[in-house]
Amino acid sequence: MREIQNSPIGVFDSGVGGLTVLRELYRQLPQESILYFADTARLPYGDRSGTEILQFVREILAWMTQQNVKMVIMACNTSSALALEAVRQEFDFPILGVILPGAKAAVKQGKRIGVISTPATAKSQAYRQAIQEINPDAQVWQVGCPKFVPLIEENRIWDVYTRQVAQEYLAPLLAHNIDTLVYGCTHYRHLEAVIKTIVPPTVKLIDPASYVVQAATKELELMGLSKTSCPLPTRFAVSGCSRTFSQLSRQWLGYCPSVESVSLPISLTPTFAWEQVEVLE
Ligand code: DGL
Repeated sequence: MREIQNSPIGVFDSGVGGLTVLRELYRQLPQESILYFADTARLPYGDRSGTEILQFVREILAWMTQQNVKMVIMACNTSSALALEAVRQEFDFPILGVILPGAKAAVKQGKRIGVISTPATAKSQAYRQAIQEINPDAQVWQVGCPKFVPLIEENRIWDVYTRQVAQEYLAPLLAHNIDTLVYGCTHYRHLEAVIKTIVPPTVKLIDPASYVVQAATKELELMGLSKTSCPLPTRFAVSGCSRTFSQLSRQWLGYCPSVESVSLPISLTPTFAWEQVEVLE
């Protein structure tokens, strides 16, 4: 048992979005060792089909199994929406997604809930289902935001264009008078400074990252898997360019991490994409 308690928690995303979850892990579970994987060769996930996402997630989890993780946090809403249920029973460690913790937090805050997410997550309706299962009276509006992830990964957070795009995506939600806004993609918390200049301060902002780590803490305790000694340094691995990831991450980590390259089977062609703002009622 001692050995497994000392194993790392695996965290994965398509790119730097999962660093928002990593930050919460550092805050809430500072004693845990973390293995962070970013599937940068195949991002963005949000334009991919369910079949592709499921395949990618299986490959990542198989690799994480080889790395002896004790738990995996899908720091990716798209994977949580499209693959979590299917893969949960296929692996021996607990796997947590971000959607249920985010939905639970949102219903505590409001009844007119806007969700910004990747097109794939919006289309899956995963947030609407999770929110309305908890509170059938809650109203949910979801907007797919295909331009956000490329802008963040290209380090264009502070471009004037990024703010224009954010205004365009948020306008239909603000027109519905939302009282709560969920970051339905882990990348979007990186845009908080921009989003806060557009959304009125009365709208509560929900970052599921904080709540998935609360859920992970409970699960580790329940399963007797909590680590009590000092953590090892976080191990970073990517499927794409390790240098690009390291340099981009610096602004959130405060240092350029050393990043391993991992090759997973690669399929680079997205099967669908949305060009326009589409509000899913
Ligand atoms: N950050 C991920 C999410 O929460 C994936 C974004 C993407 O690659 O499109 O959905």
